[in-house]
Amino acid sequence: MGLTGARPGVTGDSTSLPAPRSDTRVPPSSPQIEDRGVDPTPSTDRPTHCAPPMPAHTDVLEQRLLADPRLLREIANAVGGPFHVLFPERVSGNITAFQSVFTESGVDGFVYFGKKANKAACVARACAHSGAGIDVASTGELVAALGQGVRGEDLMVTGPAKSDELLWLAARHRSLIAIDALDELDRLAALELPVRVLLRVLPEASTSRFGLDPMELEQAIQAIAAPITLSGFSFHLSGYDAVARAEQAAALVGHCRRARANGHPAETISIGGGFGVDYLDAATWAQFQNTVEDSWFHTNPPGDYYPYHFPVAGAAMLAAILAHNGLAALLRDNGIRLAIEPGRALLDRAGSSVFRVQGVKTRTVQGNPYDILTVDGTSLSLSEQWFDSEYLPDPVLWPQSPGHRTPTCVGATTCLESDLLSRRRIPLPRRARTGDLLVYPNTAGYQMDSNESPFHELPLPPKVVLRAGADRPRWSLDSTAR
Ligand SMILES: Cc1ncc(COP(=O)(O)O)c(C=O)c1O
Repeated sequence: MGLTGARPGVTGDSTSLPAPRSDTRVPPSSPQIEDRGVDPTPSTDRPTHCAPPMPAHTDVLEQRLLADPRLLREIANAVGGPFHVLFPERVSGNITAFQSVFTESGVDGFVYFGKKANKAACVARACAHSGAGIDVASTGELVAALGQGVRGEDLMVTGPAKSDELLWLAARHRSLIAIDALDELDRLAALELPVRVLLRVLPEASTSRFGLDPMELEQAIQAIAAPITLSGFSFHLSGYDAVARAEQAAALVGHCRRARANGHPAETISIGGGFGVDYLDAATWAQFQNTVEDSWFHTNPPGDYYPYHFPVAGAAMLAAILAHNGLAALLRDNGIRLAIEPGRALLDRAGSSVFRVQGVKTRTVQGNPYDILTVDGTSLSLSEQWFDSEYLPDPVLWPQSPGHRTPTCVGATTCLESDLLSRRRIPLPRRARTGDLLVYPNTAGYQMDSNESPFHELPLPPKVVLRAGADRPRWSLDSTAR
């Protein structure tokens, strides 16, 4: 999965902080926290119980939303609970950036959005409008993609052990099917429908449970016959290594050539997803990695982190893959179409998650005060919290007004101790108050809805669509929320 992937080495042991003593509590209205407000910028001055600030890169539309004195409050009042906001124009821009790399390198390429990364209808619609296809892994995803205008032949069906229903529907819509096991081929043959397939390759030395090993691959190549067409080969690697992808792609070109010798068209390879996203700048990420301490965390320091700074991200990573060992020329010379399945990277800076502060408590650790917020909603709507990890881009406290920096961690409105949106103490620029909004940035990729459930009967946060508009940004409900 592209949820966390290879996360370079920040690890914390699981030493817990001493439980806060009840007799050291400070009343919520106490000025003590304000008086002890910290300026975390020079790390030597920062208190040891608080993380450094980690502001995220954001889209200009998000900046307009945060700067607007009323818009965010209007949406929050209308929705009446937590919500996710999406910027589909950003998705289109991200798609265009990948397509431009194909054009500039002279490679015949096609973008399939990895739909598992976000369920919003407006994202699928942006794909339809921008000439991208969608990589789907279930009948629900397939139907949702068709419903937003993506044509069947522009769908790629991935995922293990596909159901009969999914195979049939995909065949009916002439979608490309990435075969993960031999029985899928048998079941497709029984349908007697014309269908295009890729064979998903288990990379050498990989322990992945996905893909066909060399013997299975050979059996499949021998077995495929009309009305099934062998269109080529695919892989998806975990982690974010451009070189590994380029080398595996070159190996797949070799598979195509051998399959062609057996009479198959084999004109397409798919290199899957795993294009990195750059959430934080280099200095911020380095400061975090070099100084992270268990004492920053209210509870359970995480074991692992997503690589939140990624210097050659998204479309630039595709360019790097194509440049490695002349891959672009190899593809051109062999008449190979290159498919990619980015999920997270197409959603970069394309959405945020907004929670309302419902309560503010002050606690101390080793004599140092900090605030614990309770926000509406749950950390199921910020998935990283459920992977023994922590979502590191800082939430923005809205309205943005002056105050004293206040170490703050963020809890959700359920009965679980572990239900925390931010376990670390974040140096919020002022003390939060009930009714404030906390805006977690850049959450469209996997954070919003891969884990959500209506725990405690709490409604799932609806998705709101924000578009630039001629004079001011305009919002509407995503069709998944209507
Ligand atoms: C087959 C396949 N393609 C594409 C993706 C998307 O990966 P990412 O969001 O990291 O680009 C995934 C993620 O798990 C996947 O399994």
